[in-house]
Amino acid sequence: MPISSQEVRKKYLEFFKRQNHEVIPRSLLVPQNDPTTLFTSSGMQPLIPYLLGQVHPNGKLLTNSQTCLRSQDIEEVGDNRHTTFFEMLGNWSLGDYFKREQLNWFFEFLTSEIKLDPKRIYVSCFIGNEEAGIPKDTESADIWTQIFTSAGIDHDQIDIGTEENGARIGGGDKRISFYGDKNWWSRSGKAKDMPVGEPGGPDSEVFYLFPNVLHNPEYGDKCHVNCDCGRYIELGNSVFMEYLKTESGFTKLPNKNVDYGGGLERISAAAIDSSDVFRISLLWPIIQKLEELSGKKYDSHTVAMRVIADHIRGATFLAADGVIPSNKEQGYVMRRLIRRAIRFAFELGIEQNFLEDVTRVILGLYGEDFPDVKQNSEHVIATLAREEKIFRQTLKKGLFEFDKMYLKGTNEGHQLVLDGYGVFKLYDTYGFPWELVVEEAYRRGVGVTPEWKKDFDNAMEEQRSRSRTATRGEFKGGLADHSEISTKYHTATHLMYRALRMVLGDHVIQRGSNITAERLRFDFSHPEKMTSEQIQRVEDIVNEQIKKDWPMSWREENTNEALASGVMGAFGDRYGDRVKVYTVGDPEGEYYSREICGGPHVDHTGQLSDGGKKFKIIHEESSSAGVRRIKAVLN
Ligand code: SER
Repeated sequence: MPISSQEVRKKYLEFFKRQNHEVIPRSLLVPQNDPTTLFTSSGMQPLIPYLLGQVHPNGKLLTNSQTCLRSQDIEEVGDNRHTTFFEMLGNWSLGDYFKREQLNWFFEFLTSEIKLDPKRIYVSCFIGNEEAGIPKDTESADIWTQIFTSAGIDHDQIDIGTEENGARIGGGDKRISFYGDKNWWSRSGKAKDMPVGEPGGPDSEVFYLFPNVLHNPEYGDKCHVNCDCGRYIELGNSVFMEYLKTESGFTKLPNKNVDYGGGLERISAAAIDSSDVFRISLLWPIIQKLEELSGKKYDSHTVAMRVIADHIRGATFLAADGVIPSNKEQGYVMRRLIRRAIRFAFELGIEQNFLEDVTRVILGLYGEDFPDVKQNSEHVIATLAREEKIFRQTLKKGLFEFDKMYLKGTNEGHQLVLDGYGVFKLYDTYGFPWELVVEEAYRRGVGVTPEWKKDFDNAMEEQRSRSRTATRGEFKGGLADHSEISTKYHTATHLMYRALRMVLGDHVIQRGSNITAERLRFDFSHPEKMTSEQIQRVEDIVNEQIKKDWPMSWREENTNEALASGVMGAFGDRYGDRVKVYTVGDPEGEYYSREICGGPHVDHTGQLSDGGKKFKIIHEESSSAGVRRIKAVLN
């Protein structure tokens, strides 16, 4: 029996438990109280405060499997290894072990635990960055040399630098390759793009060679480990996070940390010696379901089936983690995933509702290991099915528009008032897919000319570059400039949560929180619209607490004791044995609220009124059945 992805996950966590790591629960896909990014896209993201030096309640050695979503990868899905949703296996040292242990353990896990062929393992290290004053990582390379020597494997080194250079000179199957930006990790990428306050460091990546995949010259003259042709697949990345970007360049963080992350899907694919991640046990049953529904084969409809499987899996987890399809933020990405999946299904000839069937397969694959997802099964299915229904109605409207254009053309004596740009408009407004246009035109006896397709593709490309620019703006804006105001909104959220309970009752439970530099947003369970009196009372209570200038502090507590003593938490969050509890007031004496939370917060609630500001609720609306949403500002 080939090893399943579920077993790979289990073996990984067990292995690091044996090295004294504590398993911490996954965070939700939607980051709580982090305005800088829409999704949890790596395992380290929820750990940023601890990498920066705060004490983690579960200790210095941590591990988990973190569900991640990378929406910038949507267009890349379709090849043998990219997925928007994935699980990242992670292990961390917060100022404890460093390079030697990390590289040895990872190699041991890959070769002894899941039995990869050591001769097919290749690695990369950081070449150094003179401008930033950071040296070449010869230390990691030396450790790798020892590891390969003990395994009886050649270990030549090569300086490659950039991917362009790699494509020119080729990696020549050298065991250890040195790169620049490719081997530097921070959330914002290159060392020079990092905002002040951001941690980062050199990293060492591990790749697995698939000798049967031949280099594809489309990706460059020659192949090297970072070539995109799919011959080498990256399995994991050990970041040696010891630097902090400051106004005056890089300084060292208080601790030398290890931040390791590796894709469960890719490691599982390597473990069954498949260069195609869609063959693993967490994805293949979805493909099989699509084969069954469409009567088509994966081998002849590979891209469409990969896209559908990936997108519905992502949407399933988004729904489980509380996202609802909409035209904004996370909801927009979810809507795109679902609609794109349905469009690709047209290519397979699936025109009937099919999301429920596929979603049930996915829930079956994850139910046992993710009880929180299983528990939400019915909600997940209903959410996806609802969006499918709405989209199919929109498509109908698109068909109507299509006919109007067609008829107008015929009346005016020519065939069709439609060209590639017109088709794109149908696509953009109604999600009307290209395949449908071709089909409908054909039905009316009209041929689609190659110009149509060209214009359509151009219009699409223009829109893509517009949306890429937009995403970039968002990430930078949040990270660099607004941390202080976000912190205030975070504290205001705690004040409001307690006030809502005082005014509405203890059934009020946090269902979601999102903070930007402009406002706080808070979702909570409550069956009906709040009256204006209730809103007024909540505002008054919060402003009173700001005036009282309570001190804010935190300490670690035993989770069960904390919950039993009435400390507030959020719906669906799972906690380890010990948690960080923030108190507004004195935890031993008089206090206003106590809440499980990772921080950060202001020191004194009075800071929220700096500049004469007052807390005000600007919106109260329904978010989903039984859940209300509030937006509030300090103004
Ligand atoms: N943060 C690193 C990554 O995402 C390793 O966990 O690759």
